[in-house]
Amino acid sequence: MDKLIITGGTVLDGEIRISGSKNSGLPILAATLLADEPVSICNLPHLNDITTMLALLRCMGVGVTIDERMCVEVDKSSISDFEAPYDLVKTMRASILVLGPLLARFGKADVSFPGGCAIGSRPIDIHLKGFEAMGAEIEVDGGYIKARAPGGLQGAHIFMDTVTVGGTENLMMAATLAKGITVLENAAREPEIVDLANCLVAMGAKIDGIGTDHITITGVDQLHGCTYEVMPDRIETGTYLTAAAASGGRVLLRDTRADILEAVLLKLEEAGANINVNGADIELDMKGNRPKSVSLRTAPYPAFPTDMQAQFTAMNAVAEGTGTVTETIFENRLIQIHELNRMGAKITLEGNTAVIKGVEALRGAPVMASDLRASASLVIAGLVASGETMVDRIYHIDRGYECIEEKLHTLGADIRRVPG
Ligand code: EPU
Repeated sequence: MDKLIITGGTVLDGEIRISGSKNSGLPILAATLLADEPVSICNLPHLNDITTMLALLRCMGVGVTIDERMCVEVDKSSISDFEAPYDLVKTMRASILVLGPLLARFGKADVSFPGGCAIGSRPIDIHLKGFEAMGAEIEVDGGYIKARAPGGLQGAHIFMDTVTVGGTENLMMAATLAKGITVLENAAREPEIVDLANCLVAMGAKIDGIGTDHITITGVDQLHGCTYEVMPDRIETGTYLTAAAASGGRVLLRDTRADILEAVLLKLEEAGANINVNGADIELDMKGNRPKSVSLRTAPYPAFPTDMQAQFTAMNAVAEGTGTVTETIFENRLIQIHELNRMGAKITLEGNTAVIKGVEALRGAPVMASDLRASASLVIAGLVASGETMVDRIYHIDRGYECIEEKLHTLGADIRRVPG
């Protein structure tokens, strides 16, 4: 297993380009199954999760062509299998996103039931109830969800009692080819859902209320091909901004978007960062100052994203003062604190809140990554710690951060990958 070795203490300074969004690239690739013609998806990040989604499409017999710039053409005319097998679903839960498109387009899908993961139990009951409301028959057999809708799906009025990103995406995709009108109430409003909806519209779908919690989809007979560019990754953007802030440094991020990062930018300003937005560029400058502690609470968009709290916990660990981080989306997503404490952080857990008393300096140590964003927090801690930090199990990080060591190296960090 590869490891990252970081020698901390560098004040980050430099300029990098932000990659395409993992969490909109994944549903958008699943959505290509809905079209009757080839679809080209551009600006996909080169990440293990994207590779897994492409492997999933290929194993169903779908034609996938990738060019050197990660533009992928998906042609599902040769699809021969409607199964998402256990081996792929267990490495990536987002495989569940093929369920809606397969059911809507082919009337059948067998998808391995995703289990929980390090951050929580992560049920998919709301996805399944929604498909049932649209007329699908669902059975769980041998660890597989077997969904059938031989006569096609019917539009339905669906109220989701928890705000779910994946549930909204799966049901919205399915509804594009259902007969009649589907209304999704209490829908998630994350920018990745807007990106997916815009791609579906480019394929000919009829969707109103995009970006609101009340989405209306009028089913059409078929969707056509299109070329679509995936939006920039807001969590990658937030992670590099937070790393720069924690180090007291400066960073210029290109090809990104500030309008979908308001909650994060506000907290970074509260921590003492000077932020300048110029078109698709975001510049953060701490002018050499130590960050000030901030307190935050995660909640669905547009509130503070759960995918950014671990990075802020690492920044708070070296900030001036005491801050709290309250996680409300996943039940076990403060796992990074134990590894941070091994580096000299002073963090205590009170229910779903981490209380972080900032220290002058962390000390490098061998630490273990347990999930994607927790790993990012360990890298940030390693960058600001004195001495050497070895982050083990970085396959978690490779799922969500394209070329992380190259990008951090460009910002002046002393970081290298050692094959394990
Ligand atoms: N939930 C249910 N029932 C359902 C679906 C969800 O109870 O049927 C609960 C979950 O257990 C959780 C909450 O609803 O407590 C929110 O889960 P959601 O469905 O919104 O999460 P997701 O779609 O599985 C996506 C991202 C996550 C991100 C969350 C929240 C992708 C591929 N994943 O997951 O990203 O944390 O939304 O914003 O888009 C990451 O990138 O590191 C990551 C974990």
